[in-house]
Formats: sequence, C-alpha cells, structure tokens
Amino acid sequence: MVNQKIITLVTGGNRGMGLEIVRELAQHGQQVLLGARDLAKGQAAAATLQQENLDVTAVALDVTNPDSVSQAAAEIKQTYGYLTVLINNAGAVFDARQLPSEVDQSKLRADFDLNYFGLIDVTQKLLPLLKLAEQAKIINISSMMGSLTEALNPESAVSRAIAVGYQSAKAAANMFTVQLAKELQRAGLPVTVNAIDPGMVATHFGGVTPEMAQKMGANPVAAGVARTVELATDFTNLATGTFSNSDGPVAW
Ligand SMILES: NC(=O)c1ccc[n+]([C@@H]2O[C@H](COP(=O)([O-])OP(=O)(O)OC[C@H]3O[C@@H](n4cnc5c(N)ncnc54)[C@H](OP(=O)(O)O)[C@@H]3O)[C@@H](O)[C@H]2O)c1
Repeated sequence: MVNQKIITLVTGGNRGMGLEIVRELAQHGQQVLLGARDLAKGQAAAATLQQENLDVTAVALDVTNPDSVSQAAAEIKQTYGYLTVLINNAGAVFDARQLPSEVDQSKLRADFDLNYFGLIDVTQKLLPLLKLAEQAKIINISSMMGSLTEALNPESAVSRAIAVGYQSAKAAANMFTVQLAKELQRAGLPVTVNAIDPGMVATHFGGVTPEMAQKMGANPVAAGVARTVELATDFTNLATGTFSNSDGPVAW
C-alpha cells in the first residue's frame, strides 16, 4: 500500500478519455494534474471538475515540445517533489486510411512525434520524480491498432484498419513499454510500466464526433477508461511490461 498522497499526471487531459481519467482518479482521492497543450483549455476543463469538488490542477504540457515538457517537469518537482502515476494519454492519428504504398512522410512523422517520441520525452523527464515515489506507475494508453497479431488476424477489426503510421507508432510505444519495464525491474526500482488498449471509444479521436463514433460501434468513454482507472488505483498490482484491456491481456 502507498501511504503518500498519490500525485498523478494525465497528458492530453483536457478532453476525451484523458478528461474522464482525470475525473475518475480525482474521485478516488488522487491529486490529479491535468496536462493540456493549450493551458486555457486545460484550465477550463479543470474548472468543470473543481465544481464537482475534485482536486484537479491544470498544467501546460505539449508533449511534442521539449521545452514545454521540461517546464512541466520542473513545475511538478517544485510544487510536489515527486510523482506517483504518469498516464501517457495524449495521442492522435494523422494518416487514417492512407495506403502504406502512398502515405505521406509528413503524416508518418507527425504520428511518431506525438505517439512515440512525445511519450518517451515525457516519460524520461518525469522518471526522476517517479523514482521518488514509494511505488510509482507509468501507464501508456496504447491501442489494439498497434498489435501485429491482431493486424494479421482476419477475425479482428484491426485487420481491416489502415493507418500504418499511427499503428506503427503505437507498436513502437509498446516496445518502449516492455524495454523500460525490464530496465526498471532489473534495477529493482518500484516503478511499473504497462500499456493499455482502451478499445474503440466515442471521443473526437480521428476527427469524428463522439455521436458519429458511437454509431460506428464505439464504446462510451467510461468503458474506455475502465482498465486504466483500475490499474492506476490498484497499488497491490505490481505487474509490469503488460498490455491489457478490460477483457484481459492483449496480444502484442
Ligand atoms: N478513441 C479511440 O477509439 C481510441 C482507441 C484506442 C486508443 N486510443 C488512444 O487513447 C488516447 C486518448 O484518445 P481520445 O480518444 O481521448 O482522443 P481525443 O478526444 O482526440 O483526445 C486527445 C487528447 O490528446 C491531446 N493532444 C493532442 N496532441 C497533443 C500534444 N502535442 N500534447 C499534449 N496533448 C495533445 C488533445 O489535446 P487538444 O484538445 O489540444 O487537441 C486531447 O486532449 C490516445 O492516445 C489515443 O491514441 C483512442
């Protein structure tokens, strides 16, 4: 069990699943820092949660801007001194439906800047603070779209999806999850690193409206964040290097 106050940072916390994760973890009594690349949007989102009497503070954090990431890490260090839970949630797809034979390099780079390099920059800069917590957790919001096994499974919806840049960036982030988990475990550090597949969720992800996404079969946001909230609040679960969703383990 953890006796310290739990300090949690959620990237991309101003809307979609990030906002719901912030809300539910604050409802569990965690002190939640709502990361937003546009601080005004972050403060507006935090204000709605503060009206629900939740302990939430907005932090400016553009995960693709190294100075912004350094600044956020410095602010958290100065105000709190440590971090217990890092949820790398910020993400987007830039190459939906572009054929692998034709996809623009610029879209591929945008996919990787946000979903891979940004995630790693945030993780590396927050790691010193996570190491100062009694028990810390890094949770990477991945996707079944990054599963090579599902992409090759004709029964899976993933086998019909085409977004090679986004899918590759999520697969690469999964490998980072595994490698960092092993490194920290070998070093005997109390920091777990796990990847989550939220399923298909009704948000603005992919440029649609939540209503459109729901008509296409997407789940409600509360269902999409359920596994993340479960993992972020269970300090008896010390599993590391896993990829799971609400149904259990997901094939890499
Ligand atoms: N929805 C799905 O079906 C689904 C399925 C599998 C995995 N996922 C993953 O789940 C995560 C959350 O997605 P969502 O559905 O909640 O999408 P969303 O509603 O589009 O929210 C994405 C969030 O990421 C933020 N963001 C984008 N670029 C950023 C940057 N450079 N720095 C910081 N924040 C940035 C957005 O901020 P702005 O408001 O400023 O744009 C927004 O807060 C993503 O990692 C996504 O890949 C989603």
